[in-house]
Amino acid sequence: MVTRRDVARLAGTSDAVVSYVLNNGPRNVAPHTRERVLRAIDELGYRPNVVARSLRTSRTHTIGLVVPDNANPFFAELAREIEDVAFEHGLTLLLGNAMDDDDREAAYVRTLIDRQVDGLILIPAHGPHAWRSQLAASKVPCIVLDRELDETPASHLLLDNEGGAYEATGHLLAHGQRRIGCVAGPKNIHPTVDRVAGWSRALTEAGLDPASMPLVHGPFGRRHGYLGGHQLLSQEGRPTALFVTSDEQAIGVIRAAAELGLSVPGDVALCSFDGIAASSYTVPALTTMRQPIEVLGRRAVELLAAQIGDASGGERVVLSATLIRRGSCGCPDPVGGVDDA
Ligand code: RIB
Repeated sequence: MVTRRDVARLAGTSDAVVSYVLNNGPRNVAPHTRERVLRAIDELGYRPNVVARSLRTSRTHTIGLVVPDNANPFFAELAREIEDVAFEHGLTLLLGNAMDDDDREAAYVRTLIDRQVDGLILIPAHGPHAWRSQLAASKVPCIVLDRELDETPASHLLLDNEGGAYEATGHLLAHGQRRIGCVAGPKNIHPTVDRVAGWSRALTEAGLDPASMPLVHGPFGRRHGYLGGHQLLSQEGRPTALFVTSDEQAIGVIRAAAELGLSVPGDVALCSFDGIAASSYTVPALTTMRQPIEVLGRRAVELLAAQIGDASGGERVVLSATLIRRGSCGCPDPVGGVDDA
């Protein structure tokens, strides 16, 4: 079996330098030396003994990520950003998809802890999170994204959902809309609660009564947007505008409006949330509150890497969304859905 020492001899360097190249640190290695080591590894077909290394360094150079539903492009695009930055840090990403199921989420959290990941990034589903005590006992560094986990010491990286919804609804009001309904996400999670609060505050400050506006809750996906759109837009005294709490839902609303013979934005103006790539390609393109997915992904890995390197946890970082104006609200519809942000 080829050993690290064989690689060091062929590369004309020490075992330690080979280790620094393999572990991306902790010491720097001159580029020409790194090149010789990598060439020796290739030539000899050396495969580091990951289990032995993890026993020595108590690190596996892997991190876990659990998301509610990676069929939703928001989570898929965020997971890709996280994976890109993890790779930059020499970390392998193990992804678990909870499918919004509490037991499945718990199974992934426990499995990833058992497999000795160096850290965890969690976007919690909606349930009781029964795994919290085991996570705390494991001392595995953890970053919670997007949905706040109450009474958990983990660091949180969140979005100002209330402020984003307030700005989106304010934009519809600025277009002269006065009957603004809401197609909202699942009732019992922070992003939904906060987005409905922002929609409600904007209406109240405009002298309108949110309780008189139609509101429907359901999953963040296209199907709920489609069904919720039919429900709200086929009513007597239907809304002439909708704040929709995800782009995926808004794609469903556009389909429902078309089936009801309603034009967007002429008969019903829309403003949604997330800023996924698909929001550029609906007809008209979606005006949306874009979440800083690239920043969220990078900050999550950097916060986690710092905690793996023994920095303290418990931070709470809140980022803001950016209004992207396109045709669905009544603004000009840019060719190719190109953003103006
Ligand atoms: O579209 C999925 C939604 O769930 C996003 O808005 C994200 O914030 C998550 O909470």
